[in-house]
Amino acid sequence: MHKRGMLKPMAILPIITAPDPRLKLKSEPVEKVDDAIRRLMDDMLETMYAAPGVGLAAPQVGVTKRVLVVDVAKEGEQPNPLMLANPEILWASDEEAVYEEGCLSLPDQFAEVTRPAKAHIRYLDHENEIRETEIEGLLATCIQHEIDHLEGILFVDHLSGLKRNIILRKLSKLKRMQATA
Ligand code: NI
Repeated sequence: MHKRGMLKPMAILPIITAPDPRLKLKSEPVEKVDDAIRRLMDDMLETMYAAPGVGLAAPQVGVTKRVLVVDVAKEGEQPNPLMLANPEILWASDEEAVYEEGCLSLPDQFAEVTRPAKAHIRYLDHENEIRETEIEGLLATCIQHEIDHLEGILFVDHLSGLKRNIILRKLSKLKRMQATA
């Protein structure tokens, strides 16, 4: 019997901000997209929209599983959420693209990052179906950024040591100020 009354509404999860050792962990693949993973995906989507952001990876909410959500639809456009488990890049283009990236775990920090412009990915969707798709433009950048999180890589890790240190020092200072506020 379904315990319908037990179903909780979606939840907004706290987002971990850098510097934090939990953001450097490598995430584990999910066995299958079951109810627990679907719940995680739904909560992550809710959390991402509330932030607001265009992508969120499970380690950013303290779950070291290979799960991410993205929606790069512009304001005023129809929402277009994608929920991915165990995403893999099967192919990436030699052609590169540069986008100014930000990250919900590095609040108010932005920098230009160069990545492959197009990629072919495979993943498990919300219904545990295997899917393959071509990605390009902002979606390609966003999904590559989120897959990096599953390896413990932040967008600042693509920058020079100098630029990375400036951003991380600002974030450390911000954390100290928040701790004493
Ligand atoms: Ni991020």
